[in-house]
Amino acid sequence: MSEIVVFGAGGRAGRAAVHEARRRGHQVTAVVRDPGKYGDLAADGVRVAAGDVTDAGGVARLAEGHDAAISAVYDWGVEAGVFFPGAARALAAGLAKAGVNRLVVVGLASVLEDASGVPLMDTPGYPQEYRSFYLGHAAGTEVLRGAATGLDWLVVSPAGDFDHGGSRTGRYRTAPADAASRVSYADFAIALLDEIDFPGHHRVHLGVEEG
Ligand SMILES: NC(=O)c1ccc[n+]([C@@H]2O[C@H](COP(=O)([O-])OP(=O)(O)OC[C@H]3O[C@@H](n4cnc5c(N)ncnc54)[C@H](OP(=O)(O)O)[C@@H]3O)[C@@H](O)[C@H]2O)c1
Repeated sequence: MSEIVVFGAGGRAGRAAVHEARRRGHQVTAVVRDPGKYGDLAADGVRVAAGDVTDAGGVARLAEGHDAAISAVYDWGVEAGVFFPGAARALAAGLAKAGVNRLVVVGLASVLEDASGVPLMDTPGYPQEYRSFYLGHAAGTEVLRGAATGLDWLVVSPAGDFDHGGSRTGRYRTAPADAASRVSYADFAIALLDEIDFPGHHRVHLGVEEG
């Protein structure tokens, strides 16, 4: 049994991560900005706590005593090029202060490389209207890559996209980017928790799909 802190625990990927962690018997601190909005998250083994992933001091306080952290955050109200690097900086600094070494971040397929090494966002026909959002995600990963704290981080994203109505099959596989690829939130969360229970990938962006 491990103690896991999940930032963005009220979101779609965050909720799936909390659920999968509980399936495995881990104790979870579910961090949300406004606990009043997320009363349904509280459960046996799940403590709901207020926090902001962009506040390094808060991250340190919330992560204290935990074995690993998951970040599954997105804030539509803040420019992605500000939000994702800010979250990455606060996580790197805060987790180092708390002595938490493993961080698994939910990333974005658009910046994952396809089988020929080309980022999905640069492949023919890929939508360009959200490119600044893609680049914001990539900038967050660059902050982790440059962190001087020795943090054992991993970014995991769908290889293509989430299958929003998809259910848990209990299976997934790692895969390069492919716009047609899908994975349910529940199966995606298995990959997140596997990388905490049995860390197999380090300091890279990993794609996963239904398998
Ligand atoms: N194809 C793909 O690769 C793909 C597809 C979808 C999503 N994603 C990525 O996956 C990640 C999770 O997405 P999702 O669909 O689960 O998003 P979501 O349902 O919108 O959840 C995001 C959560 O982040 C929380 N949050 C926002 N700002 C925060 C802050 N400063 N501190 C703490 N929590 C904060 C929000 O909580 P509040 O209630 O406080 O706002 C919300 O619950 C995102 O980074 C997203 O870009 C990737």
